[in-house]
Amino acid sequence: MQGFEFYNPTRIVFGAGKIAELARLVPANARVLVLYGGGSIKQNGTLDEVRAALHGHDVREFGGIEPNPRFETLLQAVEIVKTEQIDFLLAVGGGSVIDGTKFVAAAARYAGNDPWDILTTFGSTIQDAVPLGSVLTLPATGSEMNNGAVISRAGDDKLFFGSERTFPAFSILDPTKTYTLPPRQIANGAVDAFVHVMEQYLTYPAGALVQDRFAEGLLQTLIEVGPQALATPTDYTVRANLMWSATLALNGLIGAGAPQDWATHMLGHELTAVYGLDHAQTLAIVLPAMLQVRRADKRAKLLQYAERVWGLHEGSDDARIDAAIAHTRDFFERMGNPTHLAAYQIGSDAVERIVGQLARHGMTQLGERQDVTLDVSRRVLEASL
Ligand code: NZQ
Ligand code: ZN
Repeated sequence: MQGFEFYNPTRIVFGAGKIAELARLVPANARVLVLYGGGSIKQNGTLDEVRAALHGHDVREFGGIEPNPRFETLLQAVEIVKTEQIDFLLAVGGGSVIDGTKFVAAAARYAGNDPWDILTTFGSTIQDAVPLGSVLTLPATGSEMNNGAVISRAGDDKLFFGSERTFPAFSILDPTKTYTLPPRQIANGAVDAFVHVMEQYLTYPAGALVQDRFAEGLLQTLIEVGPQALATPTDYTVRANLMWSATLALNGLIGAGAPQDWATHMLGHELTAVYGLDHAQTLAIVLPAMLQVRRADKRAKLLQYAERVWGLHEGSDDARIDAAIAHTRDFFERMGNPTHLAAYQIGSDAVERIVGQLARHGMTQLGERQDVTLDVSRRVLEASL
């Protein structure tokens, strides 16, 4: 096991009806800004519940944060935070709203000249941020219990940052708030969480036995509850397990002391930046190709994955690896996410376009051994067509 420091200060308040706890969790004297997305929380009553819980607090609202939150939109919220002297931010929505709120939190107190530098420095120049909390409505990203955020801006840039200052102080996870999600977002959530686990698990053996078993448990749970969440949308137990799995997939716990890959995510972010695909749609396309192209480097872990996650015991090593990758692809397809670029009418010209993006963003040494060069990424993209 590698040495590590693990720190996660986010309080999780989990269960049906827990939005009422905002009354206690949001500081009584704070000037609060509630941030949300395109309006789903208005339609399904979540905003009304939040307003009722915050009755008596000093509250303003900022709506319109897009999926793949935009820098340009978030700067408008930064202005409000500054002019209205807001001192607590409450994100109500999915990963995009929570990520966007983390950016607003950091940008409002940023000492540098250009807030985009928060992204180009991966968050290392953040010294302060407005405290934030969240109400999660879409289990997927893990943003509710980590300090990372991914922000997009015009010109095909989609970059991430992280900072100890941008952990949510608390996140409310009410599984009943996910009942109104369309199947596409349930598919995205299960696939995103699955790939988060894979990025931290499917590397090389490092003697991190607990992390491995924990990761395998999350993968098996997602394989079990993902299709159930599509079939029976108001099954509380199913939604609760999907939600908690997605949070645990990226709250730092399974990655502590283990090598991490993240190359699939970096290629995926470029595909979203250029073609506008949903985040998890890109992952469903890239991950099977990534495993195939890098199967020699990942051989030991692929065999462990085949056996422990998919129960594959028969046949040669190569046959079991083939079957494990095929099962992975099949799981994504069954959830509703195609696993080839062609399904989105994206052709072979995408390969050089995305390689160019990776070069421009310095993504030239990716993966758990930093050996995913532009050449390797090119082969992965070719295998994704
Ligand atoms: O905008 P509204 O109207 O709220 O609708 C949203 C949006 O259209 C809708 N939605 C959310 N909750 C709903 C609902 N519709 C009905 N009922 C509900 N309860 O779902 C749509 C997608 O929302 P979004 O927040 O974009 O999805 P997701 O949570 O998948 O977040 C994706 C973003 O997170 C980033 C991605 O890159 C992408 O920008 N990621 C963030 C990470 C992190 N912070 O750690 C890690 C991830 O790897 C990922 O990169
Ligand atoms: Zn992701």
